[in-house]
Amino acid sequence: MSSNAPIHSVLTEDRVFPPPADFAARMHGTVHVPDMDAYRAMHERSIRDPEGFWGDVAKGFRWFRPWDRVLEWNLPDAKWFVGGTTNACFNAVDRQVEDGHGDEVAILWEGEPMGAAGPEVRRITYRELRDEVARCAAALEELGVRKGDVVTIYMGMVPELAVAVLACARLGAPHSVIFGGFAPQAIVDRVQDADSKVIVTCDGGWRRGSVVPLKANVDAACERLPEVRHVLVLRRTGGEVAMKPGRDVWWHDAVAKQGTGRACEPVDAEHPLFLLYTSGSTGKPKGIVHTTGGYMVFTAATAHWTFNLVPGQGQVYFCTADIGWITGHSYILYGILPNRVPTLMYEGAPNFPAEDRFWSIVARHRVTHFYTAPTAIRSFMRWGDAHPARHDLTSLRVLGTVGEPINPEAWIWYHERIGGGRCPIVDTMWQTETGGHVITPLPGCTPTVPGSCTLPMFGVDAAVVDEHGKELPANAGGLLVIRKPWPAMLRGIRGDRQRFIDTYWSRVPGMYLAGDGARRDQRGCFWIMGRIDDVLNVSGHRLGTAEVESSLVGSKLVVEAAVVGMPHEIKGTGIAAFCVLHPDQAANAGEDLRRRLAEHVAKDIGAIARPDVIRFTNGLPKTRSGKIMRRLLRDIAAGKETTQDTTTLEDFGVLAKLRETDE
Ligand code: PRX
Repeated sequence: MSSNAPIHSVLTEDRVFPPPADFAARMHGTVHVPDMDAYRAMHERSIRDPEGFWGDVAKGFRWFRPWDRVLEWNLPDAKWFVGGTTNACFNAVDRQVEDGHGDEVAILWEGEPMGAAGPEVRRITYRELRDEVARCAAALEELGVRKGDVVTIYMGMVPELAVAVLACARLGAPHSVIFGGFAPQAIVDRVQDADSKVIVTCDGGWRRGSVVPLKANVDAACERLPEVRHVLVLRRTGGEVAMKPGRDVWWHDAVAKQGTGRACEPVDAEHPLFLLYTSGSTGKPKGIVHTTGGYMVFTAATAHWTFNLVPGQGQVYFCTADIGWITGHSYILYGILPNRVPTLMYEGAPNFPAEDRFWSIVARHRVTHFYTAPTAIRSFMRWGDAHPARHDLTSLRVLGTVGEPINPEAWIWYHERIGGGRCPIVDTMWQTETGGHVITPLPGCTPTVPGSCTLPMFGVDAAVVDEHGKELPANAGGLLVIRKPWPAMLRGIRGDRQRFIDTYWSRVPGMYLAGDGARRDQRGCFWIMGRIDDVLNVSGHRLGTAEVESSLVGSKLVVEAAVVGMPHEIKGTGIAAFCVLHPDQAANAGEDLRRRLAEHVAKDIGAIARPDVIRFTNGLPKTRSGKIMRRLLRDIAAGKETTQDTTTLEDFGVLAKLRETDE
């Protein structure tokens, strides 16, 4: 099996960390799943009787009309809470106000700039959030947005981003959030694919002391998007921006004047809540479709179990992800707000003004739950122990990781230096497509093993199987699949039914294919071994090799390119690009051209796609049928002696030449 996660093949790890004995006391006596017997009983029921299990969970939410059936399953199409109507914004926000919690903090926000008096902090109560969301929804309606219309959101991590997302949900207008680090072309592709007519953005966003020109990027994209009718612009950084008359409107003009009467639109449980674009094996990112009822129930319920959230006890939850990714959608907003624990949003970089920023945030706000990515943890380790040591981190209770396998060394560091040895670590495995956690420990319940995401979530029938769907014995590597529908599963890829079927439902008949290699150990714990497709996991972000390749070729300096993953100390996987130069450029092969190409990719896609290594070659190793031999290139990029079978290589000389170009 091929794998794109070269450094994570650490397969022997036997340190088991039982749940800390005093965890329940630190959770005010409330541990939702108190022990493994409870876990096993709940999991067994959730698989045997998913309708009974999820029906019970869903009763804890507000429905405008109750469902007729919990689940309708016609592989690969699932419908959850069929016939029910609800609204995700209502369950996240309005409901709390109606229940008398309007004065509690919903969003705790910290801006990046650090003044003499400290950073700008905003504490937004559920009532204030409800009112601002209602105003924003009314403004979007005034701009022509109707139920079912896709609204594109390209903003920095400011509270108004949360407001815009929830305002869309309020109207039943699916949102498509684009990460603020993406370049104009990425906006063009996504707006066109989504057929979106309205974009919400900011003048700029703060990032490591500089301003990201968000509005200018939208303007550049709009040159290629005549169909965009309106751009709603929040003033954040105060920089000069061009406002196109008739198209562009300021947030402070359009939103502030609205009343707060716009109620939540009752929508069908299967009404699309959002699109989120993610990378796949081809150059074209796919718009993953999530719908309302199942996603709402699953994200809130999993947040409740995985983080052991308890309202009214002073918990403060901080997830460091950006709302431009699924982690931010599910576990900054939709899954957390219904749990009535303040969700902390931080605007900027982890190392601004210094490398201790996150720890100063934890100390300043007495954060109890901290959720980040292994790549960030590896950076913290490199920056040194002195940074966390300077701050009081004793408020922390639960630590989480997400996005890629965590190497045991980083796990242990996180456990000791950040968690003070007392906080359970939840290594949450999931995907844009799964909507929420599908394999994860539960704190105070599951014994943890560094590097393993442990056991399936309730309702998730995860397994490691061979190509025929046969479950493999302990420790045998195979394909990670989910054999039964779960409420937050993707409902499709926008506009591409065939790709949905081919990608997820074809290789192993009858099962959802996650696209990851995995094994289960003798205790039944899952170990993720890396992607099995041409998707790289760079710093916990998904990137298709084909996207980077087409950008390189698009530079016109290169006639052919092959991109593979390579081990990278911080990013987990770095990007290695093998390029065949255009004949006109052959004489220019050198550092300067490498820089130009790397810059081109960063401008074209975004900084996360910038290749770490670029190698020039006269040809790429190919099979007789013309397929690029990526396994070989991966070995070369990793500096390994290749052990791969090269008998199908079309041109053995190419391999020798690639090695010669090693510098
Ligand atoms: O390869 C797995 C890896 O990230 C992929 C999903 O990426 P994305 O859709 O961008 O979502 C990331 C945030 C949920 C998976 O197919 N992955 C995610 N979490 C873990 C992981 N690999 C190992 N352990 C994890 N905890």
